[in-house]
Amino acid sequence: MTTASAPAKAILLGEHTALYKNPVLVMALDRRAYAEVSRRDDGQVILTAPDLGLEKAPIERHRRGTALVRKAVESVGGGGWDIEVRSDIPIASGLGSSAAISAALIMALRAELRQDTGVKEIAEASWECEHVVHSKSSGVDPFAVSYGGLSVYQDGGIEALDADDCPKVVAAHCGKDSDTWEIVEDVDRERERKPERFAKFLKLCGMLVEDGRRAVMEGDWRKLGGLMNDNHEALKGIGVSCRELDDFVEAARGSGAMGAKLTGAGRGGVVIALVDEYSKWNVHKTLSKMGGKIMEADVSEEGVRLE
Ligand code: MEV
Repeated sequence: MTTASAPAKAILLGEHTALYKNPVLVMALDRRAYAEVSRRDDGQVILTAPDLGLEKAPIERHRRGTALVRKAVESVGGGGWDIEVRSDIPIASGLGSSAAISAALIMALRAELRQDTGVKEIAEASWECEHVVHSKSSGVDPFAVSYGGLSVYQDGGIEALDADDCPKVVAAHCGKDSDTWEIVEDVDRERERKPERFAKFLKLCGMLVEDGRRAVMEGDWRKLGGLMNDNHEALKGIGVSCRELDDFVEAARGSGAMGAKLTGAGRGGVVIALVDEYSKWNVHKTLSKMGGKIMEADVSEEGVRLE
């Protein structure tokens, strides 16, 4: 039996632009998904995933939520498996739960088979699973959760940023789920309809990420917060925010957050607020009074790992 885990992630700057090969500033968060696997002789794949509402059963009997697991098993050459998935990461929220599950699962399966468990190989195989789950994926989620830490991701490459005293993030789920597949397709149609406007959006976000990289290197977290605010406005401009997210963003800023924005595909899911020790409680209290499901998180230096 082998168990592996991988962290959640939050995009600090640049979602949606990654699909067009722009850079993204991304942070792994200290909430994890776990996959425990052992081999079976009968060729069956038996899956249990209580946090996803899947009771123990042969994979073909589950009516939903199995495409990722099928793809992960296929990536190691198939075979019979007992698989148990547990996750502390809310699903459909923009925090990379599917990438964390696939990275953990692929590492566990590979380790059990004594195959290569290099981080790059895990990230690339997990990227294949993301294509199945989200129609297309820039790779930012599988790379961020596989490598961990704070990093700039661009088109299949990742650069780790060495940051001192990285602040906490308060993540608040606004009550609506986010459907990455649908939103990514919508954004692409918007790009085709208004190419010049979209090119401006890409350029602006590229500059925000470049400034963000500098702010991280200088430990200028207020500056980073301001850039996150600007990024939220830009994301609103391409139609991927919603009233609930905007209300949370405004409330977090009003409660002293250094910056706040939607994270991930948008139109629901989570708002992330960059907080210091003083603003943390205020932001937490305000957003939970508004009905937000709150998660406080630190950066997770560790990416995918064997348990
Ligand atoms: C990823 O969490 C969010 C998107 O940027 C899609 C992607 O980059 O794969 C919307």
